[in-house]
Amino acid sequence: MKIFTLFTLASVASTVLASTTPIERISMAPKGFNSDFTVGAAYFMTNEASDNYLVSSSIGSDGKLTLYEAVYTGGNGVPALPPPFDTDPLFSQGSVGASQAGRFVANVNAGSNTVSVYAIDIFNPAQLWPIGKPVSSGGEFPNSLVINKAGNRVCVVNAGAVNGVSCYKFNWSHGLTPIPNSIRSLQLNQTTPVNGSASTPSQIIFSADEKQLIVSVKKQLIVPVETAHGYLAIWDINADARSAAVPFSITPIPGQNALLVSDPGVGYDMFNLDGTKAKAATISVPVAGQVAICWSTYSPESGNFYLIDVETSIISEVDIAKSLNSTIVKASASSKVQYPLGTDGPLDTAVATVGKNDFMYTLVAKATGLTVLSVGGPGKLTVLQRIDLVAPAKAAKLAINGTNVQGMATFIG
Ligand SMILES: *[C@@H]1O[C@H](CO)[C@@H](O)[C@H](O)[C@H]1NC(C)=O
Ligand SMILES: *[C@@H]1O[C@H](CO)[C@@H](O)[C@H](O)[C@H]1NC(C)=O
Ligand SMILES: *[C@@H]1O[C@H](CO)[C@@H](O)[C@H](O)[C@H]1NC(C)=O
Ligand SMILES: *[C@@H]1O[C@H](CO)[C@@H](O)[C@H](O)[C@H]1NC(C)=O
Ligand SMILES: *[C@@H]1O[C@H](CO)[C@@H](O)[C@H](O)[C@H]1NC(C)=O
Repeated sequence: MKIFTLFTLASVASTVLASTTPIERISMAPKGFNSDFTVGAAYFMTNEASDNYLVSSSIGSDGKLTLYEAVYTGGNGVPALPPPFDTDPLFSQGSVGASQAGRFVANVNAGSNTVSVYAIDIFNPAQLWPIGKPVSSGGEFPNSLVINKAGNRVCVVNAGAVNGVSCYKFNWSHGLTPIPNSIRSLQLNQTTPVNGSASTPSQIIFSADEKQLIVSVKKQLIVPVETAHGYLAIWDINADARSAAVPFSITPIPGQNALLVSDPGVGYDMFNLDGTKAKAATISVPVAGQVAICWSTYSPESGNFYLIDVETSIISEVDIAKSLNSTIVKASASSKVQYPLGTDGPLDTAVATVGKNDFMYTLVAKATGLTVLSVGGPGKLTVLQRIDLVAPAKAAKLAINGTNVQGMATFIG
């Protein structure tokens, strides 16, 4: 029944759009593709300056991906700045999000200051149905979003001249409705589009009890970078702030009121938010040889965290104890580095559990592709599949450029 409603909504939305409307959907599925065998989907966006597309891939029962289709977001992305910012145009993690409970996907359109939402098809998770038109992000250059556990709230952080957070209610029939008086400024001195990674937010998340919103903010990039004084902005009844060098992605530490924050200034930081004196409030841990650890994720199967460095193309695995003591898990005794991915240039990464196994889905910017890794337990990360995006995009006439791609979210069910 719901599917029928959504078909109707999608066609209404497309007739309302202007005559220059880009193609709504571009198929990228191989001939004879059968969605009966899919267990979930992975989503990233092309983030092209004109016509941002969300690209969905089907996840099979073996954890592997099959490209499915590109859906027009109704908005625009932004191109990457020249080197040294030659990938990661949004300077963020969390530009695409998926809700397990709400069965929907959301993405930011940084070039048009909007947020788009899509219902995930009941029968085929790689099939997305846009819900209405994109809504205003409540600021400029939105670069990260978060969805609550119940799947009925979305909050967005804006990075541009008008920066700060804004929140929305979500439901399948109306999509996003702004929550009155939910806009909070970060008071950053920024431009639209943003001028480099300094003074930009990196990621927005909810605290474990969902009573606070937390945003990591990078300050000026000065040398030595360890003293760059970025911080976490925390909103609730009592405003708060915690300092770090260059706080980037935020990954909650399960079972604790604590966060792992990737930090290209040092390696990673851990923030203990439970207010007890038993543990340090902030712990910064250097990772030898790291250049740009900007993304992070967690695997329930291994119980470990994974830090992703776009410049060295190395993924580092970290074991964090209850005490917040942490150690880097060596891939093997002979391997000084952790998991090298050659020259892939990994960015946004999401972990999905398929059956009893965890798989890691990584957007690889320098290779213009997707890399699937099998977690296999602690210390056992291996590359399972590499997908090239250039040839399939060319065949489908979809504009894509590895310097601009951004975001990664997964959905199982
Ligand atoms: C969906 O959201 C809209 C706008 O907030 C609201 O008017 C409507 O009642 C909601 N529908 C349901 C089924 O909750
Ligand atoms: C904001 O940044 C611009 C460009 O760097 C600078 O000229 C200006 O003084 C800054 N404004 C404030 C209030 O710091
Ligand atoms: C950012 O702005 C400053 C001062 O306005 C300028 O010198 C610099 O080139 C800009 N950086 C980028 C990456 O555009
Ligand atoms: C944490 O590490 C410190 C220093 O390595 C050590 O002294 C301490 O005993 C450890 N704490 C726990 C609970 O493992
Ligand atoms: C991708 O974008 C970069 C930077 O704008 C440009 O130099 C390059 O030619 C583009 N590549 C393709 C295949 O269009």
